Amino acid sequence: MRDHKMKAVIPAAGLGTRFLPATKAMPKEMLPVVDKPAIQYVVEEAADAGIHDILIIIGRNKNAISNHFDAVPELEVKLLEKGDTGRLERVMKSSDLADIHFVRQGEPKGLGHAVLRARSHVGDNSFAVLLGDDLIDERDPLLTTMIEEHERTGAAVIALMEVDPASIQMYGAAAVEAIEGSDAVRVTGLVEKPAPEDAPSNLAIIGRYILPASVFEILERTEPGKGGEIQLTDALQELAADPDGPGVVGVVFRGRRYDTGDRVDYIKAIVQLASDREDLGPELRPWLKEFAERL
Ligand code: UTP
Repeated sequence: MRDHKMKAVIPAAGLGTRFLPATKAMPKEMLPVVDKPAIQYVVEEAADAGIHDILIIIGRNKNAISNHFDAVPELEVKLLEKGDTGRLERVMKSSDLADIHFVRQGEPKGLGHAVLRARSHVGDNSFAVLLGDDLIDERDPLLTTMIEEHERTGAAVIALMEVDPASIQMYGAAAVEAIEGSDAVRVTGLVEKPAPEDAPSNLAIIGRYILPASVFEILERTEPGKGGEIQLTDALQELAADPDGPGVVGVVFRGRRYDTGDRVDYIKAIVQLASDREDLGPELRPWLKEFAERL
């Protein structure tokens, strides 16, 4: 793994309405997945891919996120006194992962609007976007493949995943063409949350992107779209349709991914990750088997 100059942006300013009332006073990105908040997995993923400058877009009630990535000296001293070095390491890790910056979105006007808030921090270079509630299992690396694809082609790179055709309406959907000699696909069109009969494919956009800085100019003039929100998908559609631009390439992900903003997926993430863990799995797995037999 090598270090990148590339910066990462993590939008975490959404309202999290699917998770109310849990998200009334707490951001959904702070919901614990086993014993870490979801957003820490996302920050760790960026750091593991060699990205050390991370900008988190925060909104109302999001102070918990900035507090989480701060050091807590009094807690560290207490754990040190108790000799609890395991926990001490885990507590310190969240403040040592990367150089983390924050900017407020103000009003949650959509993912495209959230990404636009990163413009002055990002400057003129390509950057990564990782959604703060979307977890990619660390055993199935995706971001590094996407960065390599971007470095090779100069294109915007999006992550795609095959979904059941009936559920494409919850995602952005991509029309794609094969690229000879490559596992990646050329994206020829994108549409946000299409009805299944209008979807160009069952390839859904998931929460990882490598974007050229030119996306900011497009976002600046992108009108509100589906749901009255400024959609990142609409700006990417413009990039995909521009014959003189760098184009959009898709990397099809076939690994484990959890949308922790969705209640069922959130529960699946906890069960899967906890049962795979060395410290929790041995106790949890037999119970899960027994539980499943009783269903
Ligand atoms: P979602 O659509 O999953 O977030 O956005 P949401 O709007 O909070 O979810 P529900 O439907 O109300 O439950 C995907 C990502 O984009 C961020 C969210 O925080 C999430 O990480 N986002 C969305 C923003 O940062 N700002 C926005 O205006 C919208």
